[in-house]
Amino acid sequence: MALFGKKTKESEISEIMLPAHVGIIMDGNGRWAKKRGLPRKAGHTEGARTFRKIARYASEVGIRYLTVYAFSTENWRRPEDEVGALMKLFKSYLEEAIRDFKDDDIVVRFIGDKSGFSPELQELMDENEECSKDRDGMVLNIAMNYGSRDEIVRAVRNITADVQSGKIGADAISEQLISDYLYTAGQPDPDLIIRPSGEYRISNFMLWQSAYTEFVIMNKLWPDFQKSDFDEALKIYSQRNRRYGGV
Ligand code: IPE
Ligand code: IPE
Ligand code: MG
Repeated sequence: MALFGKKTKESEISEIMLPAHVGIIMDGNGRWAKKRGLPRKAGHTEGARTFRKIARYASEVGIRYLTVYAFSTENWRRPEDEVGALMKLFKSYLEEAIRDFKDDDIVVRFIGDKSGFSPELQELMDENEECSKDRDGMVLNIAMNYGSRDEIVRAVRNITADVQSGKIGADAISEQLISDYLYTAGQPDPDLIIRPSGEYRISNFMLWQSAYTEFVIMNKLWPDFQKSDFDEALKIYSQRNRRYGGV
């Protein structure tokens, strides 16, 4: 569903067709650090700052759903010290986020397999969801230990279990039902997915949900990403002609 943008002081975004749901593949932290001769984890710290800035900004301009890809099911393959640094960053971040998004009225949700994280992190995730669930601003999905294939496998397993127990009939399986078994159940599909860092791939992000999503690839590393880049992506999106297979 398209909405009209709110006028904000900082943004030129007004009266353009705004996407209801935006996804961001927050990529390029490692390269940002490498360019500066810093360890990769320094890039992640800077990337987390950018995340906070852009999440707030998205809510300010009137985006209703924002999904950010923070850690994939494949990212566990990275060296132990990088994964360790990321877990440490998530912990301090989630502690702050509880307060952080309060003023912006942001609802925080996690998509992905939480059970892969330490009990401490899982608790922080639950706490963030619990204390923000009654807000009525933008829904912020943070994809952590998220993989779209894993999400689909889970959905298939749960649908099978519900068919076997007689809760649903096999003939009830439809596109809508599959959507309803995904982490994003009840939310609109993403209208726009932004990938900074210049990579032209989806990297296991929202495969089912992005059937008709508009993609905007930007040649900026995520830690360098500015509010003006978000504006730019929204402008590019508003000039696209979405046909959904029609004419
Ligand atoms: C994205 O940045 C952050 C995560 C995947 C956790 P990268 O760490 O992938 O940065 P590049 O792609 O190596 O530059
Ligand atoms: C995708 O980035 C995952 C996140 C941004 C969390 P990657 O850096 O892991 O993706 P590839 O390896 O370049 O495809
Ligand atoms: Mg990367």
